[in-house]
Amino acid sequence: MTTHLISVHVHAPEEQLTTNLTPPAKCLREGGTVAFPTETVYGLGADATSISAVQKIYKAKGRPSDNPLIVHIASLDMLEEIAISISDLAHELMHALWPGPITFVLHKHPSISSQVTGGLETIAVRMPSHPIALKLIALSGRPIAAPSANLSGKPSPTQSKDVIDDLWGRVDWIVEGGDAEVGLESTVLDVTGSVPMILRPGKVTQEEIIKIAGACEIDPAIMGASIDTSGIAKSPGMKYRHYAPEAEVHVYIGSNTEIVKTFFDLTQKQLEMGVKKVGIMAFEEDVCVLNQLFRSANFNFDQIEVRACGPSGDLVMYGKNLFNLLRGFDALNCDVIFVRGVDEYGIGHAIMNRLKKAADGKVTRI
Ligand code: TXA
Ligand code: MG
Repeated sequence: MTTHLISVHVHAPEEQLTTNLTPPAKCLREGGTVAFPTETVYGLGADATSISAVQKIYKAKGRPSDNPLIVHIASLDMLEEIAISISDLAHELMHALWPGPITFVLHKHPSISSQVTGGLETIAVRMPSHPIALKLIALSGRPIAAPSANLSGKPSPTQSKDVIDDLWGRVDWIVEGGDAEVGLESTVLDVTGSVPMILRPGKVTQEEIIKIAGACEIDPAIMGASIDTSGIAKSPGMKYRHYAPEAEVHVYIGSNTEIVKTFFDLTQKQLEMGVKKVGIMAFEEDVCVLNQLFRSANFNFDQIEVRACGPSGDLVMYGKNLFNLLRGFDALNCDVIFVRGVDEYGIGHAIMNRLKKAADGKVTRI
């Protein structure tokens, strides 16, 4: 199929946004598929009220259709068409945190097809803050179902080139709009019970939600290291191996000194065993030390790719770089990747959640 591409500047004036986004918005209204930027990751959108449009998303991504989609809205008016029985607490959280990188799980409106919600009676809804996403949705006049715009099983796309790599020829439109600010998918928060429950950690943290709601739990299922492929997960997306680069990923948590020593020894061992290329993702400070060590030990730099996820004090930067680095290691044909893990606090929850999945649970505390 023919894919149309358009580049739009995030800070383009209002009229220009409207002119540029009118054709893809029309395509959404007519039941087509449009990939677009959001502040978290790029999304692949289709009209959430059309079963045939939604089916096109599953087809383009190669995604199992029991994995429900997030429905994106541009204003609170749109909420009434898709969700019912919204609690006061949910309203309070929405007012405080929308538009932004958080998705609320609510009771589904009967008019929304269970195709969108993977058979569930609940629906996940997000109002993104990205000006292009908001304008596109508003112009289409429809609630837009949009999972991350990657092929199923690949890391989520944080740049338009990732979307082009994965979905060119599989979707009607790709709207380019720069790099995603957050780089990790939204926090998914179930607000159908009396205490809000995080089903997927993201940029909006448990601590922030507690400040507004007084309490917030994290679904115990997402705290475990391994991936549960049996039974019914609360957030069905959690049971699939996600965010996975093609290389084998091993995550290590420890002090900077321990990490440097471990990554050096592991790399040496892998190369001795005949592995062709080793990738390393570490904090900026450790990258410098590791490169020096490899140089003094006369390692062949064609066989090692050492990349910085950011400085140790900046986990927001780590979150922003994570998926991009994982995709980069694949493009460089790394066979094994050693990754610096972090403590599960604040945004560290979200980073470790994605890393555990990329590593298929291979996480070691040194
Ligand atoms: O940041 C994001 O959320 C991005 C951008 C494009 O908005 N979207 C995204 O969508 O990450 P997706 O489809 O890749 O992830 C949706 C997650 C899955 O883990 C899914 O299981 C969960 O939300 N989800 C969707 N509907 C749900 C529901 N009714 N109850 C519980 N979890 C739900
Ligand atoms: Mg996804």
